[in-house]
Amino acid sequence: MPTERTLAVIKPDAVAAGDTGHIIARLEKEGFTIVVMKKLSLSDSQARAFYAVHRARPFYESLVQFMTSGPIVPMVLEREGAIAALRDVMGATNSCEAARGTLRNLYGTDIEKNAIHGSDAPETAAAERAFFFSRLEGN
Ligand code: RTP
Ligand code: MG
Repeated sequence: MPTERTLAVIKPDAVAAGDTGHIIARLEKEGFTIVVMKKLSLSDSQARAFYAVHRARPFYESLVQFMTSGPIVPMVLEREGAIAALRDVMGATNSCEAARGTLRNLYGTDIEKNAIHGSDAPETAAAERAFFFSRLEGN
């Protein structure tokens, strides 16, 4: 399997709960290398743009509110098969249904407050990495 890069975002719920370090430690234990990382707060328009694919969904306004509720920690991760591997370690979208031991099972609360975002395909990974990081930063 080739080495890949993907985008992970530790969401406001997990940052506020003080779980940033736990999540990063687990990602490193799973074999991911952190290429670049930062902590920031999204504006309303930035959150709308990042999740634009969901703009017609009933949960969009609530998702934007949540994603702007506090700081987040986006990072570019590298590993063999990184995109699928990150989705595996994250677990299902709904934290209440995420498999035992996954990040969303351990650190999420519900279907919205689910601790971490991960890109879902090579095209979205490239676009989402570029959303947060420049080429100069190692994206
Ligand atoms: P993500 O994009 O954040 O990695 O999550 P995902 O692929 O597992 O789920 P997706 O369908 O892309 O949804 C994006 C985020 O929107 C919130 N959500 N709320 N209330 C709801 O029914 C609902 N459904 C999704 C979650 O924060 C989800 O991660
Ligand atoms: Mg998604």
